[in-house]
Amino acid sequence: MRKNDKRKSREKRGSSVTLLWGGRFKKPLSEEALRFSSSFDVDKHLWKHDILGSIAHAIMLGEVGIIDASEAKKIVKGLVDLMRDIKTGKVVLEGSDEDIHSFVERKLRDYIGETAGKLHTARSRNDQVATDFRLWCRDTIRQLAEAISKMQQALIDQAEKHIDTLLPGMTHLQHAQPVRLAHHLLAYFWALQRDLERLMDLLPRVNVSPLGAAALAGAGLPINPQRIAPLLGFSETAKNSMDAVSDRDFACELVFICALTMVHLSRLAEEIILWSTPEFGFVTLDDTWCTGSSIMPQKRNPDIAELVRGKTGVVIGALVQLLTLLKGLPLTYNRDLQEDKAIVFNAVDTTLASLSVMSQLVVTATFNSERMRQALRGDFSTATDLADYLVQKGVPFREAHSIVGRLVLHLSEKSKGLEDANLDDLKLFSEKFDADALNLLAPEESVERRKELAGTAKRSVQRQLKQAKAKLEQTRKWLRSFPAISEQIQRVLGK
Ligand code: ARG
Repeated sequence: MRKNDKRKSREKRGSSVTLLWGGRFKKPLSEEALRFSSSFDVDKHLWKHDILGSIAHAIMLGEVGIIDASEAKKIVKGLVDLMRDIKTGKVVLEGSDEDIHSFVERKLRDYIGETAGKLHTARSRNDQVATDFRLWCRDTIRQLAEAISKMQQALIDQAEKHIDTLLPGMTHLQHAQPVRLAHHLLAYFWALQRDLERLMDLLPRVNVSPLGAAALAGAGLPINPQRIAPLLGFSETAKNSMDAVSDRDFACELVFICALTMVHLSRLAEEIILWSTPEFGFVTLDDTWCTGSSIMPQKRNPDIAELVRGKTGVVIGALVQLLTLLKGLPLTYNRDLQEDKAIVFNAVDTTLASLSVMSQLVVTATFNSERMRQALRGDFSTATDLADYLVQKGVPFREAHSIVGRLVLHLSEKSKGLEDANLDDLKLFSEKFDADALNLLAPEESVERRKELAGTAKRSVQRQLKQAKAKLEQTRKWLRSFPAISEQIQRVLGK
């Protein structure tokens, strides 16, 4: 074997692929070990972020003079061309590369030859993958915020249509007190708002540049990490190189937010599933968002909502997977960390897809106001109002509670509801009842007494709707000022 060939075969290591670290080995990595350890199938989704990170790195290397300005230019141009060709499909993300970083460097060599070998100066895949992943999580935060806003808008749209629709509010899944449907739906708006605010809170912790940490101890060449950070739209640089390459807290936080968002969607899904049964009949799903049965011709099943509820388990599982992956790792980088991306990608994809289907399912659903109103008949859900009436006449609440309880028992034994009661029925239990007490028994009256902060009275719900819309506007504003790749790189990319 000629000397040159020997070097090449050592660099190759795997028989069909160039590895980034062949030099110190005599024999190639076994094909099976390569297949087992390759992350390319998963981390190829980071291709754009990987190329962007490399463009910023090359610009910085050229500026500080670690490589010639002309070499930096050549590398940047090669990377821009590669990005364009991947976008158009001319270059396909396939091969037996170890990971996306190896793929990009291999392809870059096809474009610009040996100069490609200078790109990885003063950088390790350890800080590189952390950079790519953080850029990806940043994009994801924006996508999730947009998807949550859409879901919130769907709830607002339905709430606006149903300010005057009343239904039994429940505790223990038993009729408790009448509420407006708008109030019920907006409860989910606020849960999702908290998810959104958690994303906003997370953003500055994600938006930190690890580049310059290199393998773990920091780069040994006079690079300028403070220069790379703004190029990529990062708002700061990592404070400790060892933490920079081993930290995945940002991914855990993101998956937690996904899991909790899914829990919120799942609770809504559960209600929709219940409400669409003939026993409830509160909601009819649009044909486009429910499914049939292969054997029973009459069926209309809420499969989409059921799947959201089911997939919630998968996303909660992802959080446990990720925390378990991390808990035993010594500092700093360990290859276990490679497993993080599949977990996070899956959790995020599932959450985005669930938000999308749920917002469409909700906005196209028909809520059956008449049926909801009927469900309030004879359900004693205004009993608390009657107790409050006695309190206003000076009866201690405990006693009032007992009086009304006995009245309810009496009426239900006669198969009557509160609305069927007359003054004589009331007087049987307390002399304090006057004719005006009968006016309290309509659900329409009951909801209107709940005007205080956050209650279900019309004015209160209208105020709430206004507040919800203001929050949506705040989110839009936040999205408009979202961190982005620098204009300098945008220009290089021809944007
Ligand atoms: N594919 C690897 C990952 O996702 C990239 C970093 C590899 N670093 C290493 N030292 N082997 O974690």
